[in-house]
Amino acid sequence: MTKPPFAEIYHRQTKYHPATIERGHHIDWNNPPEQFKDYPGAPRIELRPYLPTNESEDWGAMQRLQDTDGPFSLPQLSKLLFATNGVTAMAISGGQKMFFRAAPSAGALYPTDLYLVVRGHADLSDGVYYYHVRDHALIEVYPEGLGPDGDELFRRLAAACFDDKGVAGARVAIVATSVFWRSSWRYGDRAYRRCLLDTGHVLGNFDIIAPKLGLCTFAVGGFVDQEVAELIATPEDKEGVLGVFPLFELGDFERVEPGPSARASSDVEPTPKDDAILSIHDASAIRRNTADSATGPQSSSEDFMLNPKYAFASGTKLKTSELNLNEQIELAILRRRSTRTLSGEPITLTELSDLLGFAYRADLRLPPEQQPRYFDTTLLETFVVVNNVEGLEPGVYYFAPSFMELLSVRPGSVQHEIFHLSLGQELARDASAVIVHTGDLDAATKKFGSRAYRYLHLDAGHIGQRLNVGAIRLELGVSGIGGFFDDEVNALLKIPAQELCVYITCLGKPAS
Ligand SMILES: Cc1cc2nc3c(=O)[nH]c(=O)nc-3n(C[C@H](O)[C@H](O)[C@H](O)COP(=O)(O)O)c2cc1C
Repeated sequence: MTKPPFAEIYHRQTKYHPATIERGHHIDWNNPPEQFKDYPGAPRIELRPYLPTNESEDWGAMQRLQDTDGPFSLPQLSKLLFATNGVTAMAISGGQKMFFRAAPSAGALYPTDLYLVVRGHADLSDGVYYYHVRDHALIEVYPEGLGPDGDELFRRLAAACFDDKGVAGARVAIVATSVFWRSSWRYGDRAYRRCLLDTGHVLGNFDIIAPKLGLCTFAVGGFVDQEVAELIATPEDKEGVLGVFPLFELGDFERVEPGPSARASSDVEPTPKDDAILSIHDASAIRRNTADSATGPQSSSEDFMLNPKYAFASGTKLKTSELNLNEQIELAILRRRSTRTLSGEPITLTELSDLLGFAYRADLRLPPEQQPRYFDTTLLETFVVVNNVEGLEPGVYYFAPSFMELLSVRPGSVQHEIFHLSLGQELARDASAVIVHTGDLDAATKKFGSRAYRYLHLDAGHIGQRLNVGAIRLELGVSGIGGFFDDEVNALLKIPAQELCVYITCLGKPAS
């Protein structure tokens, strides 16, 4: 019998079970992780001076700024990074400042970091820059004069991405990473899942905000991990590269020839490590000189149309309203917080429809260059647990985005079960609807090897972020849930063992 891909082993090992959850993971409270990296003495470019000070006025004027300054200008990059992953709130706890970011993060631990690779810029020298979130500054990663020049940087980045022509032709690219320890400090081995989901949320912001600033991007999930990590000078045993995103002006979209958004991992047996996270990251890596397995074109929200699990004609048809959630959505990103208590009151079927439409469907009012870019959404499926939605019977439904239809798979309230399987979190009990993102791990790993595990979680986090900001735009409450009893979710949804629950998003009315 052939060995299963390591992703399956990791997934099995990191399941939560009612009988063992209490044993949990030991948290070393005296040794909390740093949320920011330091580059002592490195040149810095402060981005704060370019940040709008008046929320509604200045952020609303993005289009105007784009005309005058150009989409790659420092004011635009400042806004892009801030609305993607910047500090949007602060609290003091135990005398310590806590910084909350534009994207949510499990346990507010913020493992996601962003790097900018730049060449030929009017105000930035060629180089690699670390985005320091707290300081809202760019820090040069290579000591002055010691890094490769801009053309060499992009030559190497494109080579690492299998000569992706989009990357080769870009002048600015974002590289997203995760510093695993920030999350594993608290969540132990299961943290890799949350790291990926967290980064997916950040990418959700990025995809929403970029077109508002006159920019477009492509997702590149297939790259030689080691080569990109070396290029941005990150230590591979602490920080993993999760995606590369070349940036272009919206008008250049037609001219760019992007490669596939996802490729399979090499699935070389990981060198035995006593760290499950490094093992899964290693097993899902792509190495140089292993088979190059390009699979399909760029993935976008239109792909959701391809994957209805059940062919059916008798579901509840969802009708969206005339409301355009994309309008002023950037303001929802800036004011977004995870709702801590939901009231249990109902949301309407129209609110649910508008949200699902915004999160899962291509917005036909927008041109292709403004559509979200995913790794491979055909891997994901969606169920909706209805606790209290006006106009919809409680129960479990399968959601088919292509038809905007809900198919009842289990009638009757399951409020008690969803509360229990979310580790007894009241958010799930008091939600009006709970969105459950699932995937067929077997089918996904057949396509992409263990790297599918990354794509599944990154894309689910991305969609989760669209649900988050869409809900805030509708003045609803919302929160992700990353901790759940895995096998109990399968039982509730009546899905087979090779399918996995990737993520849960709770929606409802915030308690006042
Ligand atoms: C992947 C993920 C998992 C999360 N899981 C939970 C959870 O299980 N329970 C919960 O109350 N909040 C959860 N949250 C919400 C975080 O606690 C919240 O994002 C964090 O405290 C930061 O606050 P903010 O979202 O208001 O900025 C999760 C968020 C993410 C992105």
